[in-house]
Order: sequence, then structure tokens, then C-alpha cells
Amino acid sequence: MQRLLVTGGAGFIGSNFVRYMLEKYSGYFIVVYDKLTYAGRLENLQDVAEKFAGRYAFVQGDICDGAAVEAALAEYQVDTIVNFAAETHVDRSLMEPGAFIQTDVFGTYVLLEAARKLGLERYHQISTDEVYGQVLVDRSKETDNLKPRSPYAASKTGGDLMVLAYYESWGLPVTITRGSNNIGPYQYPEKVVPLFATNAMDDQPLPVYGDGLQMRDYQYVIDHCEGIDAVLHKGQIGEIYNIGTGEEMTNIEMTKIVLATLGKPESLIRYALDVSKLAGLGWEPSHSCAEAIEKTARWYAENEWWWRPIKSGELYKAYYAEQYGKRLGVGSRG
Ligand code: NAD
Ligand code: DAU
Repeated sequence: MQRLLVTGGAGFIGSNFVRYMLEKYSGYFIVVYDKLTYAGRLENLQDVAEKFAGRYAFVQGDICDGAAVEAALAEYQVDTIVNFAAETHVDRSLMEPGAFIQTDVFGTYVLLEAARKLGLERYHQISTDEVYGQVLVDRSKETDNLKPRSPYAASKTGGDLMVLAYYESWGLPVTITRGSNNIGPYQYPEKVVPLFATNAMDDQPLPVYGDGLQMRDYQYVIDHCEGIDAVLHKGQIGEIYNIGTGEEMTNIEMTKIVLATLGKPESLIRYALDVSKLAGLGWEPSHSCAEAIEKTARWYAENEWWWRPIKSGELYKAYYAEQYGKRLGVGSRG
């Protein structure tokens, strides 16, 4: 295995992987095959193209285009495909699921078919821990049931199952790695860490979804590349390997680290509910937060007839003493 086709190699993890492999293995030749979607950027590989000019080539192409894939494999006498190419942003998969099914499922099939026809030595699929779905207790094992929850995760699951089907049906020498959240250089600033770091630098609010208590295993991208390298060289054919730190932290903890690193105040944190689901039904709020607060305060000022009898009743006074007495220094529990 010395001549790789790295699909999606102009994206975040792919470009880090190409640089890592060319630096580590002097005998390797790498062809990056990439459609250059909004997430694929040649500047991610600019230094690679200069430093490894004799051992690196770039082909612009779509993994859904079988003829173009086969032509690239033949022209560069590729023996191994490492497939990073995918639509990757969960939030976008809620806006345009079709693009995810096309690239992440159909595109994977096209690559597998080409690998089978040309008798490649290895097909390696870059997958994600999102295929396991929500993990409430313990940790996901490679043998766990797959319960994807977003169109992105469902498409990646479809891709994985097709890879395994090619192994079972034709003995194609495949391996799969399932990584947790990668972070590091060249990540498109739609993913949370680069989004928050860049917002903070511009003193813009950091929109934390919900209560910020969702847990993620944020791993450094080079650790992920080393894991893929280990599976390519030492992994068993037909097997799946999870890659992550094994640690987790909440989004709010992550956000505080970003702010502390950049010397920015925690006042930039904004807890934000994602209301796009309801907005899809045509709903939108008519009041801003400030308008809602002002309107409400005014109503109480103008409607004493309504709340004074409630607050002067014995039931209310007892409740108030119980709940706030200690804190405010009034009531029976002082
Ligand atoms: P990215 O969005 O930064 O890059 C994706 C790359 O794929 C881009 O260069 C894009 O141009 C290319 N691409 C998209 N559709 C294509 C098509 N039809 N044909 C050819 N190229 C196409 O993604 P990333 O974060 O680097 O993720 C790479 C892979 O790793 C994906 O398969 C993703 O599912 C997986 N993964 C990502 C993470 C993460 O945290 N980012 C974690 C685990 C697994
Ligand atoms: O787990 C691996 C997956 O990690 C990869 O397969 C995906 O390709 C990659 O995008 C990533 O998915 P996530 O949905 O976990 O990543 P994202 O950076 O979009 O969000 C991380 C967490 O941060 C998630 O709980 C949602 C939250 N979030 C995200 C954004 C963009 C916010 O609170 N605010 C935001 O603005």
C-alpha cells in the first residue's frame, strides 16, 4: 500500500491526513480527489503541493462520478482508497438532506464499485461516532446497534453498511474507522469550536444550543490521523475501529476554554434554542426578548387588581416564606 487516492482530501481532516502521511512515509504517493464543495479548499493543501510536489497530485472530481473515479485510479495506479469525502455538517443536513444521501451513501457505493472492479488492495471508510446515536450510559462499542438521529448520521450509517456489504459479498478488503468530534487547523467555521473561536475574536456572541450540557469527545485532528494510520497498517480486514480520546466534556465547558484561551469574557456566551423546527411550520416570534419583558412589566403595573389579592393571600405568603425566606432573610425558616 503506497499509492493512495484520498477522497475529500481538500477538507478539514483529509488535508491534515495527507500532510501527516506524506511527512511520515517517504515512499507514499497521494492523489487528492475532491469536488471542492464549500468545505473543500485548495489553500488547505497549498504547503503540501509545494513541499511534496513529486509525491502529490490533485484531481477535481465528484465521488458520485464513476467514470472520473476510475480514470483517476487508473492514471495514478492507485492501490488504496481512503474516503473522507462527505457532506459533514449536521445542521446543514436538516436543511438539505438530499445532498447527504447523494454523497455519503451513493458516492460511497460508487467508490466501492470502482475498488472492486480494479481489484484494489484496500478500501478505507472514514466514518463517525454519530452512527451510534445518543449515548446515555457507558460508551459505544464497534458492535453496538446503529441508531442514527440526523440525516447526516443516517447517511453515514448507510455508507458504512454498504462498505460492510462489499466485504461480505465480494470479499473487498475494507476497514472502517469511526471518529468522535475532530478539532484543529483548517476546520470550516460552521463547526462549533472554530465558529466560537472566530466569533469570540470579533467580540460576537457565542450561540450555545439549549442548556449547553450536551457532551462531546473533542479530539485533536492529528490524533485521529494517527488512528487511521494505525488501522491502515495494522487493522484487520472487515473490522471497524472507534477513534476518540475516551473523554467527554459539555459544550459549555468547551466554550469556556475557548474564551479563556482567547482572553475573552464569558459574557459573550449566549444560550440559544434552535427554533428552526417550528419555523419550518411558518412560525416566527413577534416580540424580541426586550420587547416581551417591557410589555409584561407594563401589564403588571397597569393591572394591580389582578395580582394584589393573590400576593396578599395566606397560601401565597406561606409558599413565599418557604421558597425565598432563607435567601431573603424573611419568613419562618430564617
Ligand atoms: P469537511 O466538510 O471539512 O470536508 C469534506 C470534503 O469532502 C471537502 O473537501 C469537500 O469538497 C469534499 N466532498 C464533499 N462532497 C464530495 C463529493 N461528492 N465528491 C468529492 N469530494 C466531495 O469534512 P471533515 O470534517 O474533514 O470530515 C471528513 C470525513 O470525516 C467525513 O467523512 C466525515 O463524515 C468524517 N468525520 C468527521 C468528523 C469531524 O468532527 N469533523 C468526525 C468523525 C468523522
Ligand atoms: O461526532 C462526530 C461528528 O462531529 C462528525 O461526524 C460531524 O461531521 C461533525 O460535524 C461533528 O458533529 P457535531 O454536530 O457534534 O458538531 P458541531 O460542531 O456542529 O456541534 C458540536 C456541539 O455543539 C453540538 O452539541 C451542537 C453544539 N453547537 C453547535 C453549533 C454549530 C452549539 O451549541 N452551537 C453552535 O452554533
